[in-house]
Amino acid sequence: MESDDGSRVILRAVDVVKKFDELLALNKLSIDVFEGEILGLVGPNGAGKTTFINVVCGLLRPDGGHIYFRGQNIVGRKVFELARKGIIKTFQIPKVFGNISVLENLVSSASWMGFSVEELRRQAYESLRLVNLEEKQGLLASQLSGGERKLLEFARAMMLKPKLLLLDEPFAGVNPVLKNRLIQALKKVNSEGLSILIVSHDMSEIRKLCGRIVFMTAGSKLVEGPPEDVLRNQEVVNLYLGVKRNAAG
Ligand SMILES: Nc1ncnc2c1ncn2[C@@H]1O[C@H](COP(=O)(O)OP(=O)(O)OP(=O)(O)O)[C@@H](O)[C@H]1O
Ligand SMILES: [Mg+2]
Repeated sequence: MESDDGSRVILRAVDVVKKFDELLALNKLSIDVFEGEILGLVGPNGAGKTTFINVVCGLLRPDGGHIYFRGQNIVGRKVFELARKGIIKTFQIPKVFGNISVLENLVSSASWMGFSVEELRRQAYESLRLVNLEEKQGLLASQLSGGERKLLEFARAMMLKPKLLLLDEPFAGVNPVLKNRLIQALKKVNSEGLSILIVSHDMSEIRKLCGRIVFMTAGSKLVEGPPEDVLRNQEVVNLYLGVKRNAAG
């Protein structure tokens, strides 16, 4: 599948609709994610960003529209089927198991994928190294800080060998040092070919990572393009950045 400019498209969502009773959470939303890019998905609270991720990864079934992954229609596929195809998401609130070790969290997350025990261990160490958590491997996950849990959640996602990684607010509640570690890890896996869709309210991190962003509001796309263009767009400033600035005083 190709976009207008000839880039290869890994994910194409066309006119996706998702309703919660009367509420149109996604209102004919169309988004392309290009092979090998980091696409930022931004917009105000309640815009439908998490809903979009949940529809793409199979947690929610859309009420209309089409979603293609590598050219194949994936609407109606279950989460585990899509995970096997390489669509992996992380949660806005990390879902780690507090009562088992950091290492066991990694191994158990991928145990259903059919990898050998050696492969699982090898991958677990690789994922730990990626986020510099090697020294914490024996701790219970509950002993990690909130930020470290976010890193662990990312490492768990990497265990599943994603082709398209969907990140929901990976920087929320993460201190600057760990944030930077996560940014370096994301840049590394992206440079190795991983396509990433990242939802974040953290515009400075979005600017550092994304070549392109989509700004959505009320379930629809408002504008897309390079971050510097989108974030200067007057409607975006009025709808979002202006509000944030006011909120900040
Ligand atoms: N399971 C649900 N049932 C009913 N309404 C829902 C459900 N999930 C989301 N919504 C509503 O759908 C809209 C979009 O929500 P969503 O969580 O996708 O927004 P968001 O862009 O991720 O916001 P935030 O930036 O606050 O995380 C909101 O109005 C929300 O209240
Ligand atoms: Mg959300």
